[in-house]
Amino acid sequence: MIVLGIETSCDETASAICREGKILSSITWAQSIHEQFGGVVPEMASREHEKYLSTTVRHVLEQADVTCNELDAVAVTRGPGLMGALLTGVNFARGLSQGLGIRCLGINHIEAHIFANFIACPELEYPFLCLLVSGGHTQIWQVNDLGKYSLLGETRDDAVGEAFDKGARLLGLAFPGGPAIETAALKGDEHAVAFPQAFRKSNEIEFSFSGLKTALRYYLEKIAKNETKVILSDIAASYQRSIVEILAKKLQQAVKKSGIKTIVLAGGVAANKRLRMEVQEVLSDCTLFFPESKYCTDNGAMVAFLGEIYMNINSLSSDTFTTAPNLSLKN
Ligand code: KG4
Ligand code: ZN
Repeated sequence: MIVLGIETSCDETASAICREGKILSSITWAQSIHEQFGGVVPEMASREHEKYLSTTVRHVLEQADVTCNELDAVAVTRGPGLMGALLTGVNFARGLSQGLGIRCLGINHIEAHIFANFIACPELEYPFLCLLVSGGHTQIWQVNDLGKYSLLGETRDDAVGEAFDKGARLLGLAFPGGPAIETAALKGDEHAVAFPQAFRKSNEIEFSFSGLKTALRYYLEKIAKNETKVILSDIAASYQRSIVEILAKKLQQAVKKSGIKTIVLAGGVAANKRLRMEVQEVLSDCTLFFPESKYCTDNGAMVAFLGEIYMNINSLSSDTFTTAPNLSLKN
């Protein structure tokens, strides 16, 4: 079985080829056009996908040494994501699959992020907990089997990736903010500033990051007024510490509540090394799986991989799916 995966839900134009659970090739084109605006401009994202998707697909086929006629299916992200961006991928996938007379599968982006863990770690076993941390989501899922998920907790407001991106913008760092803050924090003292950690004392598994961003803004205003000399790397490190500590703490509470001790990370923020360190430290008695960084941020491999799983059990209806910007992972 050979499946082509297409991912265009946000600002990465990505494609990959999966054969029998192995990724033969994977290309992710991170659209740099958004950097100058400090955030993703939806209309531009769609246009960039239009421009680069067919070349990306041609290159993954070439790199995998696979021809179009050898494909058994095209899997494409149908949601959640930006409507226009999703549509470019879905329309392309539909056209290609119809031309080739093969199936077109609509894939849930969140589910694909979670299943990216099986690419590098086929030995991963159910049930497990997944901390899904991306630009749009901050959730802890209990994964009992394929299609059997229950949400243990999530953010009330901003997603953690947003907190990184908005924080970086306030600090005058580049977009995307996560890697920029992680790099800036490397030489910083992470105890220099005490930023808030919402719900730290609560037993509820929930997050809130809007107050953190506001605290950073007030802090920067205060030091500007007092002309205090501060070191950017100290602020970045302290801001990052506040985020990773609360994520690990809530994951620890989820372990206690569920009794499940196998944990995976997923989503762009899962690439953060300081987060991985914190989780390793706080949950040293658990079995931890971290996907490779290239499979944390948006990529086509996770879509092709999950598409092949669904093809094998023949359970997603072909071609009738809708594009769904607000798609969730049902309990
Ligand atoms: O999963 P993803 O690529 O796209 C969404 O589905 O949202 O996640 C993107 C988010 C961005 O907010 C970006 O700043 C964050 O992931 N990110 C990171 C790192 N790499 C990407 N955050 C913290 N540390 C990183 N190394
Ligand atoms: Zn994503």
